[in-house]
Amino acid sequence: MHPSLLTASQAQVARSARIDLSVGYPRLRTSAARLAALRRAISSGGNAWVWEEEIGRLNAEVATLLGLPVNTEFLVTFSGTTAIGRTLQALAARREGSVIVTSPGFDSIASLAQEATGAVPEVVRRTVFREDSWIARLLERIRESDPSVVLLVSPDNPSGRVLTKNELTTIATACGQARTTLVLDQCFAPITPYGSTVPLATSVDGLTDWCLLWDSSKTVELMGEKVGVILPSESVRTCVQDSLGILHLDLPLSSIVAVRRELKVMRTTDGIRSLSDVVATNASRLRAVAERVGLTVNEPDAGSFLLLGVQGTYYEGHADRLAARLLSKHGVALAHDRLLTLEGHMNGSRESYLRVLLASRLEDINSLCQGLETELLAANARTSPVDIQVTGER
Ligand SMILES: Cc1ncc(COP(=O)(O)O)c(C=O)c1O
Repeated sequence: MHPSLLTASQAQVARSARIDLSVGYPRLRTSAARLAALRRAISSGGNAWVWEEEIGRLNAEVATLLGLPVNTEFLVTFSGTTAIGRTLQALAARREGSVIVTSPGFDSIASLAQEATGAVPEVVRRTVFREDSWIARLLERIRESDPSVVLLVSPDNPSGRVLTKNELTTIATACGQARTTLVLDQCFAPITPYGSTVPLATSVDGLTDWCLLWDSSKTVELMGEKVGVILPSESVRTCVQDSLGILHLDLPLSSIVAVRRELKVMRTTDGIRSLSDVVATNASRLRAVAERVGLTVNEPDAGSFLLLGVQGTYYEGHADRLAARLLSKHGVALAHDRLLTLEGHMNGSRESYLRVLLASRLEDINSLCQGLETELLAANARTSPVDIQVTGER
């Protein structure tokens, strides 16, 4: 298995960054009072919790959040990563065939697919700044390769693109014809800062076998406490459920209780809307600064990320070097395109960008803006991109 560049970079960031905007989960910092309330709630529960009851309550809370019937029965796992891994393992055992993934994206998906099937997944490349015909390429690949699974992310990481109902229907129909299961990672679905609605995997029921994945870590900020959930179509439910059997016994009850309580607080206090509003406010702030310093900004439909393209600037083709400067000179960590693009699919990529977590405090976004202004205005005034290529200086 390939080591994850993104994970290695995040380990380094954890040691050196003052402000970490390189991750997908919120960095708003849960208040001490809220944590204290949670601690009291958990310690007063003693051993009175009944596991099934708590799972049932969590299910109802997640269903409400996603706008699904309140009696929807999810399968509960440790995290989003576990949900992806276990689902792929179950589906790979059910039917032979490749897994199709997209790149750039959350790089662990490819590793988890390789672990499940023993083969490198097939990759469909997509662009993040402009529309391209990746869906047409995907459909062609489904017809040609007879895959067992297509795994897509909507809202996408990093582009923030949401698959429309029509796009989902087209993809699901092709999957149905090829007997392929459509797995949709929808962990960013509740974060809708720009007014888009996010069609869920449930909307393709009957067209193909499908699994909807969601995890709490992009919405709930609880010092690492998280859960992942899987909603399989009836046709694959038993098979996915069986692969979770042992895991279920190990799932920490306190995580389930903590996440469920926090989701309830967010529901009753309009916390999800506030999270989306924070993202929207930070997006406007960053967009204005990016335009001033000559960076290109993408147009996400939803989710927590904004991308800053470096084409036409001193850092053209080398967003990783801008990321290194922002980390070393300003203590701000961001992910860049090379960490998000699968090995072997980078060459020829003309899109070089930084990925910024917007579920962050405004003061942290302001520090990033200051860093960008300092680095970009100075660099742009100093040298043209052509000079850099000649001298190789950075
Ligand atoms: C699209 C996507 N799915 C799943 C995950 C994994 O989340 P978790 O932290 O719950 O394992 C991530 C993490 O960044 C992600 O970006």
